[in-house]
Amino acid sequence: MAARLATSSPSLVVLATAQPSPPRTAKSKPSNAMRANASNSSATVSAAAAAPRTTSKPHSPSTPRPDAAGRFGAFGGKYVPETLIAALTELEQEYAKAQADPAFKVRKIVDGDGKKERRRRCTRGTTNKEKNPTPSSLPPSTPTHPSIHPLKAQFESILKNYVGRPSPLYHAERLTEHYGGAEVWLKREDLNHTGAHKINNSLGQVLLCLRMSKKRIIAETGAGQHGVATATVCAKFGLPCIIYMGEFFIGRREFFFRFFGFFFFRNKLSLFLHSLSTSSFSLSNLSLSLFPGAKDMERQALNVFRMRLLGAEVRPVHSGTATLKDATSEAIRDWVTNVETTHYILGSAAGPHPYPMMVRDFQSVIGKETRAQCYSQWGQGQLPDVLLACVGGGSNAMGLFHEFVDDSQIRLIGVEAGGEGVDSTKHAATLTRGSPGVLHGSFSYLLQDEEGQVIDPHSISAGLDYPGIGPEHSYLKDAGRAEYAAVTDQEALDAFVRVSRLEGIIPALETSHALAYLEKLAPSMPKGSRIVINCSGRGDKDVNTAAKFLNISGGIEE
Ligand SMILES: Cc1ncc(COP(=O)(O)O)c(C=O)c1O
Repeated sequence: MAARLATSSPSLVVLATAQPSPPRTAKSKPSNAMRANASNSSATVSAAAAAPRTTSKPHSPSTPRPDAAGRFGAFGGKYVPETLIAALTELEQEYAKAQADPAFKVRKIVDGDGKKERRRRCTRGTTNKEKNPTPSSLPPSTPTHPSIHPLKAQFESILKNYVGRPSPLYHAERLTEHYGGAEVWLKREDLNHTGAHKINNSLGQVLLCLRMSKKRIIAETGAGQHGVATATVCAKFGLPCIIYMGEFFIGRREFFFRFFGFFFFRNKLSLFLHSLSTSSFSLSNLSLSLFPGAKDMERQALNVFRMRLLGAEVRPVHSGTATLKDATSEAIRDWVTNVETTHYILGSAAGPHPYPMMVRDFQSVIGKETRAQCYSQWGQGQLPDVLLACVGGGSNAMGLFHEFVDDSQIRLIGVEAGGEGVDSTKHAATLTRGSPGVLHGSFSYLLQDEEGQVIDPHSISAGLDYPGIGPEHSYLKDAGRAEYAAVTDQEALDAFVRVSRLEGIIPALETSHALAYLEKLAPSMPKGSRIVINCSGRGDKDVNTAAKFLNISGGIEE
């Protein structure tokens, strides 16, 4: 088995493993991955990470997601430096405690069609009594320990009064008309406070953090939406906040190398010539051709300003391609160093257990609301035919899918960043083109070469520019429960314009990937069928990037 430390992460925070190690018992010899880690004092694979199994059984509702070891089938686990195990365990325990908080009970409710039962938590309402009256079926209340906040009640109350939930489920009539096939419905996460789904998770985690002894918050960000959401909740609760974000930085030698190297690459040259031949030529166009990708702080400058305005410290990350992967590695490095005082608010349903589960749970409000809105708008028991979402690390997609995974008649489709095409070397289509390995503490699909080195991803959208994916998506893919497709940068840009013009909604470039997939999907579906798309964020942050590619004056020249 090839097991190497990813070149992009020399301090062993990132361990890339080309293939899963064979099953082993407690007494068996350590795998190469274990040895590679153990040879460095700062990192060992946790016992909880025990060797991944590679079986991919079809999904069954009884499959625990995750199991007690934090695995989704073969995927997930905890592949982290020893120093983080205690923090992850504390987080896991605190989360479990919050779930079992006596302020909440679980009751069964019956769906509209009266046939199917599902579980839903309801608040007993120690702080929220009026809004959530005690169902008569529940036993009398047990007093809550004064130091324990009723997390779920608090979470729901802030989601409602501060974030502005529930977000609408909106019928996109002109898009529907445009395709002439399935009805298109948008779950409007872009209307949340701060403009994306990310705040659901940041809020949940900050409330959890308040229950623990951690007083300092760190986070990584790519598109800046998770950074803004985290800076926002930290401002609300008065916590110091540090955000890691990639910044393009280029030394003189590198500049000359790239500048002269540029003229030898025909595809770049043709891009240059193309930009010359159109009225959209500008210096920024030229610099995009010369130095593609790698500049999150530049391409999401609006969000950098917002984070700083909110009082967060934005720490530039210059390593690697200066994108989300590198920001995540840097945040983990900080966490390893300051674990006693610091909570890491990871922004997607990725990373070591319990993050994929926890982030999914906090985001699952999206799917829960969607179900209720389908019933109220379409009639009891009526459900969509397809759920569609873009996939970076996978949190907005899992937030929408989770509620419906066991409704096997509903197609779940995740859309990845196809960049310049999945057959090129420039894409971030992890599930389409990757293979299982370990990145940022979790075993999942990964863009890697034969030696297990992480391949630098590419996407026009900073939030999808990531070589890994949350482990539950890997499980759903291998189990055949969810489908994954990729669309190119150009297709996403086209959708960005189309949805702006047809619906008066400027979507985030991340979201535009899911919207772009409608081109293939919607016309092929019968009239009367329904697609719900997670409109994960708004596109204000992306107008500068888009303006570099689009020539918009009075109209659009394509
Ligand atoms: C608006 C928006 N949508 C989607 C994503 C992708 O992240 P995830 O796959 O975790 O939802 C991002 C990431 O920054 C984002 O900002």
